[in-house]
Amino acid sequence: MAKIIAVYSMKGGVGKSTAAVNLAWCSAGASARRTLLWDIDAQGAASFLFGRDTSSGKAKRIFAREVAPASMVEPTAWPRLDLLAADLSLRQLAEDLAEADKPKRLRKLLQTLGQDYDRIILDCPPGLGELSDQFFRAADLIVAPVPPTPLAMRALDQVRDHLASHHGGKPPLLPVFSMVDKRKTLHRETVAAHPDWIAIPQASVIEQMAVKRAPLATFAPNSPAAKRFGELWTDVERQLGKL
Ligand SMILES: Nc1ncnc2c1ncn2[C@@H]1O[C@H](COP(=O)(O)OP(=O)(O)O)[C@@H](O)[C@H]1O
Ligand SMILES: [Mg+2]
Repeated sequence: MAKIIAVYSMKGGVGKSTAAVNLAWCSAGASARRTLLWDIDAQGAASFLFGRDTSSGKAKRIFAREVAPASMVEPTAWPRLDLLAADLSLRQLAEDLAEADKPKRLRKLLQTLGQDYDRIILDCPPGLGELSDQFFRAADLIVAPVPPTPLAMRALDQVRDHLASHHGGKPPLLPVFSMVDKRKTLHRETVAAHPDWIAIPQASVIEQMAVKRAPLATFAPNSPAAKRFGELWTDVERQLGKL
């Protein structure tokens, strides 16, 4: 049965999709795991980064149980790495699932899909509500990208508090600094206060992912950022091993 890793933040634009795509590549490549990246964000950024056309409007069928989940899965250009793409039909997913009154719908879908994979990585939309509660109920581990700024750190604390008060402190949360600019004193100080967290640098090579439409390590394997994602994946596997 697959282990489920949710790449999540309450905030948007913090590097979730970027991390999800690169972690999925590490899982399938370095770790040789059968890996599924499930893009649950209507923006479809992770799907785009894997070179997908995100105009089909079919993504929500899986949540409505109109189709077998596996029938929507597509291979990527890389071995062992599959994709469940997103599109704008997911933009009201929180409302759709609330209406359907199915608080564990995602978890059940993952149980079905999980039979065919070792690792499933969820690229989650931002927000903290009923939909994110579904992620928290379904995931074995949350990877939380956080830019080293006071507001982003505060949002992380809010998520921790929510997990503690509503989910018994589960699943475990693995924070990762994202978009770190070492020229900024505030960034340097915040990163220095958490020496054990991986820090992904602000780097134009990461923005290039959206031009190449491929994981970072496929075109810049020796970049510092690609190495940091590799280390992050090692941390993820270590955390999963402890469960
Ligand atoms: N470390 C980074 N350095 C430079 N640009 C980044 C970095 N991480 C993300 N980006 C860029 O920032 C934007 C938002 O990233 P994305 O991963 O889509 O965030 P989210 O999924 O949290 O909304 C994208 O244009 C992405 O290319
Ligand atoms: Mg995203």
